[in-house]
Amino acid sequence: MNLDTVLRRFPLRATLNDESMVVIRPLATDDKAELRNFFLRVPEEDRYYLNNNVTAPEVIREFTDGINMERVVPLVAEHDGRIIADSTLHRSRRTGRRHIGELRIVVDPDFRGKGLGSRLTHELIELGRSLELRRLVFELVNLREQSAIHTATQAGFEETAVLKDRVVDRFGSLQDLVIMELSLDGPEIGHLEG
Ligand SMILES: CC(C)(COP(=O)(O)OP(=O)(O)OC[C@H]1O[C@@H](n2cnc3c(N)ncnc32)[C@H](O)[C@@H]1OP(=O)(O)O)[C@@H](O)C(=O)NCCC(=O)NCCS
Repeated sequence: MNLDTVLRRFPLRATLNDESMVVIRPLATDDKAELRNFFLRVPEEDRYYLNNNVTAPEVIREFTDGINMERVVPLVAEHDGRIIADSTLHRSRRTGRRHIGELRIVVDPDFRGKGLGSRLTHELIELGRSLELRRLVFELVNLREQSAIHTATQAGFEETAVLKDRVVDRFGSLQDLVIMELSLDGPEIGHLEG
């Protein structure tokens, strides 16, 4: 299925476990201020393990102005006009890895434990399936991202590798990186004409 068709299901409304309503939709260019406010509300200990300096205005600008859905599909959740979660499906630039998607999810601390992380995980899995990806991956820091390891496990991901001492945590200790994967059924992987 092509990306435009896949994205047609958004925006969609979802009800969390505490009955609060959220809207899940792709990130938009004019989300700059709200996206930055969201990352400022994410505790520093969580931000440390994210890939970018996510509160820097120039990084936010890259996210909102450099949207290339063929590479990264960013879905946010919104509540009362505020962004309360950011999640992304990253597709590899490498042709030989075009069947792989990597997931990243961050939820506002005030909205955790209400099913939003699981819902976004399921949305990204459905996106991956529609885009005919074959394998989805989470890379998570052992001990420091336990909630995410739990969320991924609940969604059907399995630990496929542990990379020893791959991450220096905030306290200067070495932590293992846990690779968690979900295999998706799909059609044959297409042959690419040279
Ligand atoms: C991981 C994260 C996205 C989960 O979001 P969430 O909205 O709280 O998730 P849910 O409410 O859907 O909970 C998912 C599961 O995790 C469990 N869970 C939530 N917080 C937990 C915690 N601190 N410890 C153990 N389990 C936890 C929930 O009970 C639920 O399991 P269940 O279905 O068996 O009840 C959120 O904790 C977060 O943003 N963490 C910081 C960022 C991060 O580590 N991201 C991963 C890197 S990509």
